[in-house]
Amino acid sequence: MNREERELRKEAEALMRQLTLEEKVGMVHGAELFRTAPVERLGIPALTMSDGPMGVRQEFEPASWKCVGNHDDYVTYLPCNSALASTWNRELARLTGEVLGAEARGRGKDVILGPGVNIKRSPLCGRNFEYFSEDPFLTKEMAVPYIQGVQNWDVAACVKHFAANNQETQRLWVDVKIDERALREIYLPAFHDAVRKGNSYTVMGAYNKIYTEHCCQSGFLLNQILRKEWGYEGVVVSDWGGVHDTQAAAFSGLDIEMSVTDNFDGYYMAEPLRKMVEEGKIPEEVVDEKVVHILMLMKRLHMLDGKRKSGTYNAPKHRQAALDVARESVVLLKNARGRLPLSPEKTKEILVVGENADWMHAPGGGSAEIKALYEVTPLMGIKMLLGGNTKVSYVKGYCQDPKEEAQGAQDKNWQADSLKDGGGTKGAHSSSEALTQYRRLLREEAVTKAKGFEQVIFIGGLNHEQDCEGNDRADMKLPYEQDCLIEELLEVNPDTVIVLVGGSPVEMGRWIGRAGSVLWSWYAGMEGGNALAEVLFGKTNPSGKLPESFYKSPMDCPAHIWGNFGEKETADYAEGVFVGYRYLDAYHVEPEFCFGHGLSYTSFAYGQVELVKENGKVYVDCQIANTGGMDGKEAVQIYLAPKGRTEEEPVRQLKGFGKIFLKSGEEKKLRIEIEGYSENMEVWAGSSLNDIRVRAVERI
Ligand code: BGC
Repeated sequence: MNREERELRKEAEALMRQLTLEEKVGMVHGAELFRTAPVERLGIPALTMSDGPMGVRQEFEPASWKCVGNHDDYVTYLPCNSALASTWNRELARLTGEVLGAEARGRGKDVILGPGVNIKRSPLCGRNFEYFSEDPFLTKEMAVPYIQGVQNWDVAACVKHFAANNQETQRLWVDVKIDERALREIYLPAFHDAVRKGNSYTVMGAYNKIYTEHCCQSGFLLNQILRKEWGYEGVVVSDWGGVHDTQAAAFSGLDIEMSVTDNFDGYYMAEPLRKMVEEGKIPEEVVDEKVVHILMLMKRLHMLDGKRKSGTYNAPKHRQAALDVARESVVLLKNARGRLPLSPEKTKEILVVGENADWMHAPGGGSAEIKALYEVTPLMGIKMLLGGNTKVSYVKGYCQDPKEEAQGAQDKNWQADSLKDGGGTKGAHSSSEALTQYRRLLREEAVTKAKGFEQVIFIGGLNHEQDCEGNDRADMKLPYEQDCLIEELLEVNPDTVIVLVGGSPVEMGRWIGRAGSVLWSWYAGMEGGNALAEVLFGKTNPSGKLPESFYKSPMDCPAHIWGNFGEKETADYAEGVFVGYRYLDAYHVEPEFCFGHGLSYTSFAYGQVELVKENGKVYVDCQIANTGGMDGKEAVQIYLAPKGRTEEEPVRQLKGFGKIFLKSGEEKKLRIEIEGYSENMEVWAGSSLNDIRVRAVERI
C-alpha cells in the first residue's frame, strides 16, 4: 500500500468510527435491488450499481423487477466483450471502458457490473458472449484497459464473476473441481491483472462453489487469494443471491451482499448479521473492515468530496466508439473464391435472407440486456450503405420458435425468479408439425427467390435465446433448421455469402466445404449493422480475429471429453490447463477455425522478427508489410513454445500481441512486449495460431 492509499484508509477508518452498528450493517447489503442504504446523518450516500457490460441497464423499481418504463434510460449499446476481444485492440478496449464509464456516471451510477472475464471453457456456455476469450492472456490484456477506461469517469468497474464461473448449468450451486495449477494459470490471471494492474475498485463473487465453498463467501478465494496474496483493498460484492450463510459471508472477504428478492432486512448480511454481532458471535471489527472498504471506494470515486466528474450518455462520440469497435470485430472466416468484398457499384440488386438480418439483439441475454437508443440491423446497414441505387430484397428464410414470454416485459423480469432454478441446458425448442411446415415454406420461398439473383447474402446464426444467462446450449448446432436453408441456398447460388451472428461458435460441417465466403459477427452493438455492411462492401477491411477456437463439434472440446459440464453437482475440470487451443494443439485436433484466425482483403508479409531485451522487459520487433491492394490492419500474435516440452506443458501459449495499420504497400516495425519469456522458449510470430510466419531471433 502506498502513502496515498494509507492516508485514504485512515480517513475511511475515522469516518467508520462515527457510525452505529445499524448504519454499518445498512451499508453492507442491498437496501434495494441495485442500491445499498445511505447514512444521511453523515452525508454518506447509497452505493448505486447497474449492469453491464454492453451498456448501462434500464432502470428498475427499487424493490421489484418491474422496469420503470420511462424514456430517459435508452443508452449506447456497445459490442459485447467477445466482439471487443475479436478486435485484438487494447485502445478499443480502453475506449469501450471510457464510454461505459461516462454513460454509467451520466446515469448516476457508482458501480458498473462488468467486465465479465470468465474463461470460455466450453463453447456451450450461455454467457460466453459476455466474456472475452478462452485465453487468459488475451482476456487480461483487454480487461485491464477496459477497467481503466471505466474508472477514469469516477465510476467503479466490477470485474466478475470471481471465479471459475464457466457454465450456466447448475450455476447457483455447482462445485468446481479443479487442480490449483489450472485455476492459477488459466482462470485467475485475468482477475489478478484486473485488480493489480487495472486497479478494479470492485470485484463480484461468482454463484458457483469452488472446493465446496460458495465463491461469494469463500475463505480460499476471497481471504487467501484476493485479500492476502493480491493485497486487495477494494470492495467485493456478491452476485445477486450468491450468499448462503451469515457467518461464512461475514468472515470472508465479501463486503456487500446483493440479491434478487425484496426482503432486504432478511438478507444474510442484514438483520441476521446485526444480531450475530450483538450476540458476540461475530466481532464488530469484521463489519468495520467491510465498511472501511466501502468508504475507501466512495472516496476513490469522489462521492464524498464534491469533486466528482460528471458523465453523459448517448453522446455522438459514444456511438462513434461503438462503430469503431464493431468495424474491427467482424471476422472474415473464409473467402475462398474472393467474392468479398462486393462492389456497391456493380451490384444492381441483391437478395438478403435470414432472420438475423432484421433482428435486434439488444434487449436479450439476461442481465446484460440493453435498452438501446437504436440498433442498426444488418439489413438496415446494407440499405443505408447502398443508398437506394441497388435494389435490396429481403426474405426471412427461417424463423425462431414462438416466444412464451417476452423478455424485459414491463411487468416482470426473469431475474425475479432467478434463484428458483439453478440454471440449465437449453436444447432445440418445440418442433411442432406446424412450425416445421412453416419453416419449410419460408425456406422454399427463399430458395426459389435466390435462383433469380446474382448476389445472395444469408444472415443467420444465433440470438439471445441461445446466448443467454441462466442456460447453456445443449449442442453447437445452428438452430431453426438453418443448416438446411444454407445447403439449399448454396445449391442454387454457390456464391451465396454466409454471415453468422452469435456469441459462440456453431457447427458448420454440413456446408462449410461448399461455402465460398463466410463472415462472423458477434453481437456488435448499436452500429453492428453498419460495420457489417462496410465489411461486405469493402468500405472497411476486416481485421477481427477469433478470440477462441471454433471447434467442429463440442466433442472436440476437452471440457466435454474429459471433464463434465452437465446436470451434476460437480463440474470436473479434468482437462486442467488444456483449455481451448492448448488442448487442440497438444492432441492434434483440427478445429473448424483456429484461435486467432481472421482473414483480410489485403495480405501481410512478415519480415524478420527480433527478440529485444530492454530495461528488464522483453519485446519482439516485427517487420510487417502490407503486400496487397487495400489498406488494412493486422493483429500480430506472439506465441511462446517451450523447447523440449514435457507432457504437462501446452505446446505454445499466447504471450504478446499488437495491432498495426498499414497502407497498401507500406512496411513498418511493430514492437510487442511479451510476458513470461525464458531462454528455453522459442518465440513464434503469426497471423493466427495455425499460421505462424516467423521464429524470432535474438538481437545481438
Ligand atoms: C448476474 C450478474 C449480474 C447480476 C445483477 C446476476 O444474475 O449473474 O452478472 O450483474 O445478476 O443483475
